[in-house]
Amino acid sequence: MLSLRRLFRNTKYARLGGHISFPASVIEAFQWHTTELSAKLPVIDGGAAETRRSFRQNEVKADTQMDQAQKKRNAAKASLEYIQDGYILGIGTGSTVNALIELLPSVRNKIDAVVSSSVATTEKLEQLGFEVATLNAVGDLDLYIDGADEATKHMHLIKGGGGALTREKVLAGAARKFVCIIDDSKLVGMLGRFPLPIEVIPMAQSFVSRRLVRMRGQPIWRENFVTDNGNHILDVHNLQITNPLELESRINQIPGIVCVGIFANRPADVLLIAEDSGVRTIGA
Ligand code: 5RP
Repeated sequence: MLSLRRLFRNTKYARLGGHISFPASVIEAFQWHTTELSAKLPVIDGGAAETRRSFRQNEVKADTQMDQAQKKRNAAKASLEYIQDGYILGIGTGSTVNALIELLPSVRNKIDAVVSSSVATTEKLEQLGFEVATLNAVGDLDLYIDGADEATKHMHLIKGGGGALTREKVLAGAARKFVCIIDDSKLVGMLGRFPLPIEVIPMAQSFVSRRLVRMRGQPIWRENFVTDNGNHILDVHNLQITNPLELESRINQIPGIVCVGIFANRPADVLLIAEDSGVRTIGA
């Protein structure tokens, strides 16, 4: 058994391991990571933004970023169609949702109540004059609209790039319909290229990390980031998510995990995918 701290004194992993020891197989996994992956990994500076920029399947070059922003606006606009009179609406978090929030005043008269998935979204809604209700006060939602970091045609998602996954999963679970709005760079054949966000309670961070390494993931602590619930995020690289339903359930069994960013047990009902040619709909 070797001391992880001694081997990786200058890496983030020392912080995950503390004084614990690891068997050779685990050390090998970390060695693989440091030699093969670290050259490619961004410094995780507390933001999902950096992770997102580096790992999106079709990496967006500077000169096409306008196009992606426009696609996000197009997906957001298409989702307005799903808002009907008297609706209790749940609103997700992220840049695609921000495009939606800007459009929400145009359908204000249809919305009975709005519930938010994050402090950031609440602030934006309040700036536009919306009174944000709690989920406890309104009961179930008629509709939940949110973005995603990755989505498959089976409507399984990875979410949590913005760190709001727990409240997002609660709102998705409470909604009769979940409409997910994405640009086409996020549609993938298999989930897992985007590092899987997992919210953990801080005292369980190292323990959970070791369990995830056993599952052949490479967890990286999202430094300088605290969730709205006062917890930490581990971004887990290199997981082969061939069976999202099974992996979501398996990861959920690890004590100390608050929420895993696989949305498969409660997938989206509708995917609105903004492409160059328009917005494609999967589901109903
Ligand atoms: C936040 C999320 C977001 O939905 C996801 O990160 C997509 O964000 P964006 O629309 O900015 O690409 O899960 O926790």
